[in-house]
This record gives sequence, C-alpha cells and structure tokens, in this order.
Amino acid sequence: MKKHKKDFNDKNFAERYIKKHKKITEKLGYDYAKKLASLGFEKKKILDAGCGFGAMDAVIAKEVPECEIIGIDLSEPLLEYANYSVRDTDIEERLKFKKCDVQKLYFEENTFDVVFSTSMVHGVSKPIIMLNEIERVLKPDGYLFIKDLRRSWLGIFESEIKSAFSLDEAKKLIEQSELRKGTFSKSVLWWNFEVC
Ligand SMILES: C[S@@+](CC[C@H](N)C(=O)[O-])C[C@H]1O[C@@H](n2cnc3c(N)ncnc32)[C@H](O)[C@@H]1O
Repeated sequence: MKKHKKDFNDKNFAERYIKKHKKITEKLGYDYAKKLASLGFEKKKILDAGCGFGAMDAVIAKEVPECEIIGIDLSEPLLEYANYSVRDTDIEERLKFKKCDVQKLYFEENTFDVVFSTSMVHGVSKPIIMLNEIERVLKPDGYLFIKDLRRSWLGIFESEIKSAFSLDEAKKLIEQSELRKGTFSKSVLWWNFEVC
C-alpha cells in the first residue's frame, strides 16, 4: 500500500488532514469557548500558535463575544482553507490567519491575553524554543492552554500517537523551558498544560 508522507504543505495531505480532523477540532473550540466563558472572559486578544485549518478558532470567535484571534501556521494550504472558511462571515474582522513560525513569533512581548497551542509540541523541530516564544508573547496575567497527543499503547493504531511525547517527557520539556508555572492533566488521548 502506498504510504502518504506527512507534509502540511502538500495540498492532498492537507485536504485529507482537514477531513479527518474537522469534527474533533471544532469540538475543542466549543470546549475552550466554554472554559473562557466560565473564566468571565471577553474582549481579549488570543493567539493560536499552530492553528492548522483554523476550525477551533472559528468556533471560539463565534462563541466568545468581541474576542480578537490570530492564528499562525506555516502550511499554505491549511492557511488558505482557514482564510477561505471565514471570508464574508461576521467573524472575519476578529479572526485572522497568518503565516509565521511558532519558533520565531513576530509579536511584541506581552501581547496576548490567551495563547492556545494544540497538537504542536511533538511536531516542531525545537519545542523548547516554541514554548519560550509563547511565554514571551503571553501577558503576565494571561491564560495558556497547551494540549498535545500523549504517547501510549494507542500508538499501535495511530502513528501520530506513537511519535508524541509521554506525559513525563512533556513535563520535562516544559520544566526546561521558560514557561511560567501551570498545571498538567491527561486523558486517554492528550496531555494538557494550563495556566488559568
Ligand atoms: C498536527 S497539526 C495541528 C494543527 C491545529 N493546532 C489542530 O489542532 O488542528 C500541526 C500543525 O503545525 C504546523 N506547523 C509545524 N511546524 C510549524 C512551525 N514551526 N510554525 C508554525 N506552524 C507549524 C503544521 O503546518 C500543522 O498545521
């Protein structure tokens, strides 16, 4: 059987990725929007570091009144899809998608009230640099939601899980970074690091 290379700049791979992940990504958007609402959050500036095709951000923009979101990623086909999906909608003004490396953010320090980063830590070449960049752009009283796949026995079914970090490895990475103190949690699929 032909093996497909994981290349987010390949249009065919990107299309398959969107199809496979759209529902779960939208669900994450609803979960996070609920969390932000419970924290009394509105009118704030949000960064999604590694936004992919932007479905999570589109849900958050619809659900959280007056927030401004910028999603950044390096994949042109995913950014194109993200921009197209909000064109001519009432969230277009508050939700922007731009090309930028999560390991070299072009924002000033203390810019964002909230930073999200989902399924990113195991996929970038320099995760600690990415985490330090997130810390730099997050305001001192900002909220942070990092979520990534957790390596487990489920890796026998899914190569993405096989190549992810275990919870202990994730803890070690975060301790080595400049990120502020936060709390870890895990579920069957994910590990989470949150400051809120
Ligand atoms: C597994 S996807 C996760 C996307 C999105 N967060 C989600 O949950 O659907 C990984 C994403 O990281 C992006 N990516 C990989 N390296 C990157 C980098 N250095 N800077 C920005 N984006 C990067 C890829 O283009 C891809 O969209």
